[in-house]
Amino acid sequence: MTDSVAPSAPALVPVKIAGTGSYLPERIMTNHDLEAMVDTSDEWITTRTGIKERRIAAEGEYTSHLATKAAEAALEQAGLNSDDVELIIVATITPDTLTPATACYVQQQLGSLKAVAFDISAACSGFLYALDYAKHTVGAGAFKNALIIGAEKLSAFVDWNDRNTCVLFGDGAGAAVILPSVSGDGKILSSQLGTDGAQAELLNIPCGGSACPITLENANEKTAVLAMQGREVFKHAVNAMKRASIEAIKAAGLTFQDIKLLIPHQANLRIIDAIVERLEIRREDVFINLDKYGNTSAAAVAIALDEAHRSGRINRGDKILLVAFGAGLTWASAVIEW
Ligand code: UT7
Repeated sequence: MTDSVAPSAPALVPVKIAGTGSYLPERIMTNHDLEAMVDTSDEWITTRTGIKERRIAAEGEYTSHLATKAAEAALEQAGLNSDDVELIIVATITPDTLTPATACYVQQQLGSLKAVAFDISAACSGFLYALDYAKHTVGAGAFKNALIIGAEKLSAFVDWNDRNTCVLFGDGAGAAVILPSVSGDGKILSSQLGTDGAQAELLNIPCGGSACPITLENANEKTAVLAMQGREVFKHAVNAMKRASIEAIKAAGLTFQDIKLLIPHQANLRIIDAIVERLEIRREDVFINLDKYGNTSAAAVAIALDEAHRSGRINRGDKILLVAFGAGLTWASAVIEW
């Protein structure tokens, strides 16, 4: 047997987040609105989840439209023209169509005609999966820049008669522009991804794909909607986000004391509190906006990042920790020096 030498991986240059943006549809649906639709109460939703209201996209307003508006804000902040964008990744589980990718519609809407565009389906972890991919591909010089977007129109995939799920989700989009980092800039210090397909059944949209196409026979059974074993998912979410947070901090060569702000996935305030209890992080150093938007899956961390940035919670040189968890099961984390 002859020894073979594996080609060495190309050196990555550091990359940074050069701009962020977000977009939330205008229509607000409050917990009181839901009381009129299903057997629930503002008291139950608030105490069990922390959610007070969520946004609902208008008829004719699709995931791509939300994504494009968030992307425009991120491009403007980054000072990048849409026709200079080289890569567009949309993280979503609620695409406009099964094919083509929602990113293709976004490419057209932005007029980013040179850009390669595709979607990532990693549920609530999708934006951080896109961030990790962009870090590697822009860092390796394959693309000069990347526009990463988390966008969801979950209202189109929720059974509005099922109180177990319909109170939890909302629509929205968040985006970030990734550029090479030059000396003195901030940079992505670490990113970690994980998947456990053995738990796929805990949270899914069972029909509407090749395993269970929608037919005349099953069309009324409401199977092309989100189904979740909430308590089980809750336990996995706490454990996975705790582990992913610790791994990202270690990989960045930092301690929790170095972290200015934790931006966790916005699914349930009790999940966030459980993570905070298990990590060396103060509650006031955690960004929370789920009261306003509910769980927007792949968009949640992206929207929170943009709001934290634009409201002055993140400043030059701050180190922030992002962590997410979702269907798959998937989880992801990243440490960023701003
Ligand atoms: O984003 C991806 C990751 N997703 C998550 O991380 C979500 C994880 N799971 C959760 O956040 C929580 O499990 C839920 C918020 C989904 C549910 O909270 P829970 O405390 O785990 O409640 P449960 O499912 O154990 O239900 C408790 C009770 C049940 O009644 P019984 O069986 O005790 O009589 C439910 O039927 O609450 C009832 N219930 C409701 N009552 C009023 C469930 N939904 C509602 C509702 N309003 N909307």
